[in-house]
Amino acid sequence: MNKQKSQEQKDYYNKTAKDYDKWHIETASAKIIDAWNFKNLKKFVNNKKINKALDLACGTGRISNNLLNISDQVYGVDISEEVLKIAKQKYPQLKLTQSEVTNLPYDNNYFDLVIINGSLHHFFAVEETLTEAYRVLKPGGLFVLLGEPNQNYLKFYNPFFYFWALSRVFIKISDIFKTKKSSPPELIEPDAENYKPNKLKKQLTAAGFDIKQFYTYDYFHRFENKLFLKNYYNYLEFEHRTIAKIFKNLGAAIQCVAYKNNIRCRK
Ligand SMILES: C[S@@+](CC[C@H](N)C(=O)[O-])C[C@H]1O[C@@H](n2cnc3c(N)ncnc32)[C@H](O)[C@@H]1O
Repeated sequence: MNKQKSQEQKDYYNKTAKDYDKWHIETASAKIIDAWNFKNLKKFVNNKKINKALDLACGTGRISNNLLNISDQVYGVDISEEVLKIAKQKYPQLKLTQSEVTNLPYDNNYFDLVIINGSLHHFFAVEETLTEAYRVLKPGGLFVLLGEPNQNYLKFYNPFFYFWALSRVFIKISDIFKTKKSSPPELIEPDAENYKPNKLKKQLTAAGFDIKQFYTYDYFHRFENKLFLKNYYNYLEFEHRTIAKIFKNLGAAIQCVAYKNNIRCRK
């Protein structure tokens, strides 16, 4: 684990905690992506209620809180005390603890589901995180990774990239005419990683996981155009069923569902 990078992340999220929801969660585009992700998540657990779920790097807790719809008990960890303070205030029903993701305060084989939403790229410790997630999962348990940045995205042969570039141009032009900007100037996040899908798959397998699904989707964060937003959810569905199957693993964000193999664990 890179301690300096970890400290940078902690300092940044401590410093910006009070604005976290405004920047990351309350935008209309983020809400649509959340809704789409959650619908998928329900499918991953076969629409059944599970016993214990863990949200790694839970931030201000809205995904953890959503998990209560599919899990009796929900745990969350985060490195930043300040985001956790907000999460505890908003969702007292969650079991929240400050912790590094690479050193979790839980027994082996404890959770039915471990999820990371939009955070693995902040850890600078992919292998250690995956190994730790594997350790705390029960045999047969599910590991879900949502919204990690894809290194294959910024390629000239990638049609998804041109959609994104167009949306950026549109945002910049429309921002000229607005007093309330789409992207707050303060939002300069610390360094983060992005992943080559094939390498990430190998790392998941090396940690012991069996990959069930691995796919990407098009992520238009902070593209708040009303007409676009009206159709974004349907676009995500359509893209997932069709375009993403032709242009495999080229979308901006990587999603993955893996599990701890029941039979192999018992050997
Ligand atoms: C982009 S936020 C995502 C938060 C949340 N999952 C969500 O979807 O809103 C990234 C989170 O990772 C946390 N984080 C970064 N490095 C961490 C580490 N090494 N251990 C635990 N949490 C970490 C940050 O404090 C921050 O809350």
